[in-house]
Amino acid sequence: MSTTLINNVPKTAVNSNDHLTGNPFLLNCWYVGAWSNEVHDDKILARQLLSKRVVFFRDEAGKVSALEDRCSHRFAPLSTGRHTGNGVRCMYHGLVFNGKGNCVEEPGVKGVSRGTDIQAYPTAEKDAFIWIWMGDPDLADESLIPDCSYQSQPGKWDWEPRYRYFNADYRLIADNLLDFSHLTFVHENTLGGSKKIANIKPKTEIYDKGVRITRWYLNEDKVAPYLRGFETFEGAVDRWNIYDLETKGNIFNMDSGSAPAGSGAQEGTFVPEAMLFHATQIITPETEQSSHFFWSYAHNFNLGDPKFTTMLTDRIAEGFEEDKEMIEAQQIIVNENQDKRFAYIHFDRGLSAGRKTLAKALAEEAEYFASKSAAE
Ligand code: FES
Ligand SMILES: [Fe+2]
Repeated sequence: MSTTLINNVPKTAVNSNDHLTGNPFLLNCWYVGAWSNEVHDDKILARQLLSKRVVFFRDEAGKVSALEDRCSHRFAPLSTGRHTGNGVRCMYHGLVFNGKGNCVEEPGVKGVSRGTDIQAYPTAEKDAFIWIWMGDPDLADESLIPDCSYQSQPGKWDWEPRYRYFNADYRLIADNLLDFSHLTFVHENTLGGSKKIANIKPKTEIYDKGVRITRWYLNEDKVAPYLRGFETFEGAVDRWNIYDLETKGNIFNMDSGSAPAGSGAQEGTFVPEAMLFHATQIITPETEQSSHFFWSYAHNFNLGDPKFTTMLTDRIAEGFEEDKEMIEAQQIIVNENQDKRFAYIHFDRGLSAGRKTLAKALAEEAEYFASKSAAE
């Protein structure tokens, strides 16, 4: 991984009206469309992604497909259709579409009328997610699917899938995740804890895929509130959060943990009683003002105890509710103040780096689409 340490992230305020210029979303990347377990049997899952309505379903072999949620005939939604085994039947006049978007049946005639095919989106299934590519399909390379393999290591990590809906722009959620100073204030009694946390200066790096933020809180009196009662050791604690944001797909992978103070965690030595976590948090925009939030919180201790996993995940979820409340309230004020700019404070290094890498990727993508359409 090549990284650039940011000693001086540009002190530009992020425009609250950034989203009014240019394409708001990256298109040429894999997004999480659903948890694998949301699409099963003959279920048709309807979901809006990047302002487009999509349906997901499985064929008889279990392979998942994603189609636009629009019958080509009179534009009835396919989400009100019926699963046919290997496709979906529109329940207005009965056209049937397969997983490639081809119309394969038209009631009352042999064959099908011309122009009845609809758009299918490339999909893939990996690490318990259904991934979807909504940009140029020629670029949909499965080797580019972000690594969420913590969710594919049973016996090493336990976790459970969670989902939350936000009435907020994905960028406000990403800002929140890149700024842990809010732990002290938003999550005073849940994820946060000490005043010291707000005073810690994280290391912020830009790497080839996005931003990495590293925070160490050494020699804390206690573990974070959400871990109280679950301690695997006694005494002072070294805590850490190492956050990687992959700009493409808004993939946040966070290594975090609590270990006995001075036991060498910062140098990479984890004693057996160290409590290690790996959080996967993914934001897929629904529209410019709403987002899907898929997350899990894998832990390396108390393995094989699903009740513990649920209890731990519930405690984290409590913290995320506090974020949701704050971010949705913030979105309302942002909307009412489109002509104003956010003030920059020193906590904003991480989120500024996140916005910067996103702006760069959006500009590169705009250039790609412009040169592609010029060549056509
Ligand atoms: S609208 Fe779907 S078959 Fe007519
Ligand atoms: Fe938070």
